[in-house]
Amino acid sequence: MTDEFDDDEDRKGGPQRFIDQRAAPTRVGLIVPEVRGASYSHSIEARKSEFEGLASAITVEMIFSDVVKVREIKPSTFIGGGHVADIAKRVVDEKIELLLVDAALHPIQQRNLEKETGAKVLDRTGLILEIFGERAATREGVLQVELAHLNYQKSRLVRSWTHLERQRGSGGMGFMGGPGETQLESDRRQLQDRIKLLEERIEKVRSTRSQQKGRRDAVPYSVVALVGYTNAGKSSLFNALTGAGVFAKDQLFATLDTTVRKLTLPHGREIMLSDTVGFVSNLPTELIAAFRATLEEVLEADIIVHVRDVANPDHAAQAADVLKVLGELGATADTTTPIIEVWNKVDLLEKDADGKHPALDTMSPLGTVAASVPASAQTGEGLEQVLLTIEKVLASKGRTYRVRVPHTAGADVGWLYGHAEIIAREESDEVGQVYEVRVEARHASAFNERFAGRIEAVNAA
Ligand code: GTP
Repeated sequence: MTDEFDDDEDRKGGPQRFIDQRAAPTRVGLIVPEVRGASYSHSIEARKSEFEGLASAITVEMIFSDVVKVREIKPSTFIGGGHVADIAKRVVDEKIELLLVDAALHPIQQRNLEKETGAKVLDRTGLILEIFGERAATREGVLQVELAHLNYQKSRLVRSWTHLERQRGSGGMGFMGGPGETQLESDRRQLQDRIKLLEERIEKVRSTRSQQKGRRDAVPYSVVALVGYTNAGKSSLFNALTGAGVFAKDQLFATLDTTVRKLTLPHGREIMLSDTVGFVSNLPTELIAAFRATLEEVLEADIIVHVRDVANPDHAAQAADVLKVLGELGATADTTTPIIEVWNKVDLLEKDADGKHPALDTMSPLGTVAASVPASAQTGEGLEQVLLTIEKVLASKGRTYRVRVPHTAGADVGWLYGHAEIIAREESDEVGQVYEVRVEARHASAFNERFAGRIEAVNAA
């Protein structure tokens, strides 16, 4: 999808940033709180390295990254006073400008931490919004991210929001400094006006899109959607399978907007493969809502391919997060969507004398899946099997029919070309022509109704 901006307003509005990307990289300190008694699904090492990955997804200079033990969450500053004092000292000694805290901070906690440490503070949601702001490419993506960003800001409007400063003409200082308290009211009004404008625009983009989607529904190809934790290798797999050049980089959320491409399966059947945004644990709820529309491809897919990075020691918890987000999106409500797991990056696993990967012996798919296939987007290992598996699972969903269409029924022929896959056409006689077609489950009832009495043979294949 490459929507064009149809006016300058959107471009100017753009997703706003908390961090000024024009100056030299900001010096940041990372704090990963480990709250006693909290039930984390990921190990502390995994959380720390993931948070470092998130931080390096934006242009910053990472000065330190520390796990901070929190015995009890402090309402005023989240982490304990002793730790805050230590951090304040490091902020001065190491000239830290920004602290990234891997937690959902209350606005008051964020403000107090800023006051006591002298650095700007962003929490996990703020950081993820920042990354999404940097990556959004389609018009809707840009609008959605900005809306999520503004709603987040509104809830914690206290001071120092870059874009407001810039609009006021005092710009250039990024997140440092900020407007005085007297500006609060007008800032809030500005935010509210902008939110309203954005909501109207998104509505407009959506209605255009659903009209376009109506057209796409008529496409007879099955849709296969790739999902997976960020960095699992979705884009690499997409590229390897389709031979297309999608941006694949060792960077989180390299893809933010859905990319769709036609792909021919080993036995000639054509499908649409879509690459989607990567998932992450604790994805801010603002963003889940915002990306519901972008992830429509997933919700409407005939098959979901869940790409897992089996070389990551944390892959089980990551997979659980992916299923959780899918659940939040409503994808699992339709229990008929089969899931195929691709166990990617097997090239990074050790091999035994038989060329097998012992690490996979103890692996099991998560939840109910149609199949799991070990593969490597990098070396190509297992990719043929991925395609064959998609083919097999699709075949179990669709059916083939032989149907006789009289020459006079031009509209019926049009319907077949629009909604079914034409496998073969027999010689026509004076009455009409026999078509062999494959019909997806979603078009089956319309097909049966339209061609009732003219269907000559049915095969489940
Ligand atoms: P997001 O855009 O963050 O959602 O990531 P993604 O899931 O699209 O991952 P991407 O394809 O960008 O790959 C992430 C990193 O993993 C890149 O550095 C890839 O080169 C690497 N990678 C992907 N597949 C494989 C694989 O099979 N083996 C190895 N060794 N590396 C891989």
